[in-house]
Amino acid sequence: MIYLDSAATTMQKPSAVVRAASYAIGHMASPGRGGHRPAMLAGETAFACREVAAELFHVENPEQVVLTFNATHGLNIAIKSLVKPGDTVLISGYEHNAVTRPLNSLGARVKTAVAPPFQPELLYQRFEELLTGEVTCVICNHVSNVFGYILPIERISALCRSRQVPLIVDASQSAGCLPVHMDDLGAAFIAMPGHKGLYGPQGTGLLLCNAPTTTLLEGGTGSVSSLQEMPGFLPDRLEAGTHNIPGVAGLLEGMHYVSQQGMGAILAHEKALTTRAAQKLSALPGVEVFAAPGLGGQAGVLSFRMGGMDCEDVGERLGERDIAVRAGLHCAPLAHRSAGTLETGTVRVSFSVFNTAREVDRLVREVTQILREAPTT
Ligand code: ALA
Repeated sequence: MIYLDSAATTMQKPSAVVRAASYAIGHMASPGRGGHRPAMLAGETAFACREVAAELFHVENPEQVVLTFNATHGLNIAIKSLVKPGDTVLISGYEHNAVTRPLNSLGARVKTAVAPPFQPELLYQRFEELLTGEVTCVICNHVSNVFGYILPIERISALCRSRQVPLIVDASQSAGCLPVHMDDLGAAFIAMPGHKGLYGPQGTGLLLCNAPTTTLLEGGTGSVSSLQEMPGFLPDRLEAGTHNIPGVAGLLEGMHYVSQQGMGAILAHEKALTTRAAQKLSALPGVEVFAAPGLGGQAGVLSFRMGGMDCEDVGERLGERDIAVRAGLHCAPLAHRSAGTLETGTVRVSFSVFNTAREVDRLVREVTQILREAPTT
């Protein structure tokens, strides 16, 4: 199997991640739930995970790092902490349903900064125009999960700071390959999954917090148990119920792995594969590739369409040839609307450190073959 769906989840994990998760299943209990060795070991692991994340993402205090079950979980906490029904929120045209559905459910008024992909200057101008007095919160993706487009998050965060509007950053596709610095961005919240670029297990995520929070879940925390309110302090306030400790143990090792490899080296590897795929696929007749000019503003995610062929059908045909990609709307219809691909969707390939140039070449050969087999219209 050639796995080219790391924007959904990095299926291939470093062996240390697998070992750590397995060890935790057999040896760890619940943090804060006892003074015995398995509970203490779980507590130490959770704290180590917060410490490593705080260092990697430049968070002042490890207690501002909340362990979540995925990025959607973190985004829901962030959004419901800052947005009330009827509030006006400004978002980019590249947000995932993990942002737009909670806003819809809250009854927020949404303004959208729309510009075609790979035009960061235009997108920034749209943010500048739309960030008016009634906007109480800005939400912006760092990298589009559909197009790999790197949004101008540093400039947008500076704009938010200058206008004193809190910013939520969705770092789902950037954490682990691009600098995501809480201190520099000055964001209110940054949400990210553990199971993508941080190489942790599914069912893990991180929410970096720098603003007052509203709870999404209430329940046991192992702290101030005599009170019926949730604790006022982080991380306990946002971590009701038993943790996914095997996941957290794996995520800790995943972050160690990312530090050892170096985010710059990871990005360079993924960009090289993206460039190779973009060049070779765009040379095929009838294939439309969505790539940044010179690929400067693009991470390891690439979308394409093939003539009049149905994208989901292409995805299935690649799957039958043992190549895993994701096709369709990628839970991000807004991003497709911004790019003009809402009607068709796209076929998406996305890379991790474990992919190789040979795998890209095999993808291109199989796409060529699928094009040959397509009935002529
Ligand atoms: N949001 C994830 C993706 O892009 C799951 O596939």
